[in-house]
Amino acid sequence: MPSISRRSVLGGSLAGAGTLALPPLALPPLTTPALAQPAVLRIGLMLPFTGTFAALGEAIASAFNLHLKELGGKMGGRTVELVRVDDESDPAKAPSNVNRLLGREKVEALVGTVHSGVVMALVQAAREQQIPLIIPNAGNVAATRELCAPSVFRSSFSNWQPAYGMGKALAAKGIKKAAWVTWDYAAGKESAEGFGDGLRAGGAELTKVLTLPFPETNFQPLLAQLPGLGVQAVGSFFAGGGAIQFVKDYAAAGLRDKLPLCGSGFLTEGVLKAQGAAAEGIQTALHYGDGIDNAKNTAFRAAYKATTNRDADVYAVQGYDAAQMLAIGLAGTKGDAAAAKELSAAIRAAKIDSPRGAFTISASHNPVQTIWLREAKNGENRVIGAAAEALADPGTGCKAA
Ligand code: PHB
Repeated sequence: MPSISRRSVLGGSLAGAGTLALPPLALPPLTTPALAQPAVLRIGLMLPFTGTFAALGEAIASAFNLHLKELGGKMGGRTVELVRVDDESDPAKAPSNVNRLLGREKVEALVGTVHSGVVMALVQAAREQQIPLIIPNAGNVAATRELCAPSVFRSSFSNWQPAYGMGKALAAKGIKKAAWVTWDYAAGKESAEGFGDGLRAGGAELTKVLTLPFPETNFQPLLAQLPGLGVQAVGSFFAGGGAIQFVKDYAAAGLRDKLPLCGSGFLTEGVLKAQGAAAEGIQTALHYGDGIDNAKNTAFRAAYKATTNRDADVYAVQGYDAAQMLAIGLAGTKGDAAAAKELSAAIRAAKIDSPRGAFTISASHNPVQTIWLREAKNGENRVIGAAAEALADPGTGCKAA
């Protein structure tokens, strides 16, 4: 049996976790038959339900729930109880939120989160305690590169993937120099790197990265600099409430016709209605889009709409697939969440029947997936081609997954 302790992740540093006096857990040995386990399996859903990413967290939770209902409320033969925690997209609060889930709330598996900084506390706990973790959004590359682990999986993307696709597509259009505008945190920086790599793959270059602190939305000082940069296009990573504001401000500054705006698809995902005419014509790259024609997507979109009264978006897809992945892993261990090796092997061997199109999982536990080029038109992110097919994150530095 792996040594499982409830070590604290207070303080948040990956190296220096302290010790929290929590009662020892009566975890079952790896081979315990399902009958000997507590009937109820508690799963922690740590997501933002307030702040700029609130709608993203709600979409993930709703779609996770949708698949759980399809499974009759059970995974691996055990009745699932979800424990929701609002992480507020605040990295400073992440260690105590994770500790609460693993301590007081006694969850046996974790699902979270959206924000690349916040996810680090979840990754740390999952690595140290071999708790299954499915990341349903946060693209922090470290989670599936140098910090990869047997129990850590992503149902989403790495920050590098969509931005790489966008850079490649832009270079293919003949753009030679581009800039990137984003928030100053892991997702912004890593997507800038992906964008630059994609541009370079097509013979173009990223000449400037402009940032502002997360989750600020005072874009004017950055917008004012763009015309003087000598670039032919501007790429960006923003999402949620911040993306609504950025796209509106970009149009209001009169930049749309001078410098075409593009980005990782989060820029226009789930927010097109709120952006209105300001988003019309913006091209982005993402692992999902409107017009993906497969039976799973059709059924998923109808069921999601029926249960939430909202249109599905990439966040909903990632939440749904997080539930699929966890259910597959737990089916492989007959509900034993502590059987890290077996659970991991079951997910790793699966082809996930996703609404985005079926995907496999790389050796570092990140989806290998097509990045679509989309164009915003009449309230839809219409797929207009493939920006990069069957794209895997480079997985650099991953040894142990
Ligand atoms: C992230 O912080 O990794 C992140 C947040 C929102 C997105 C995508 C990535 O839409």
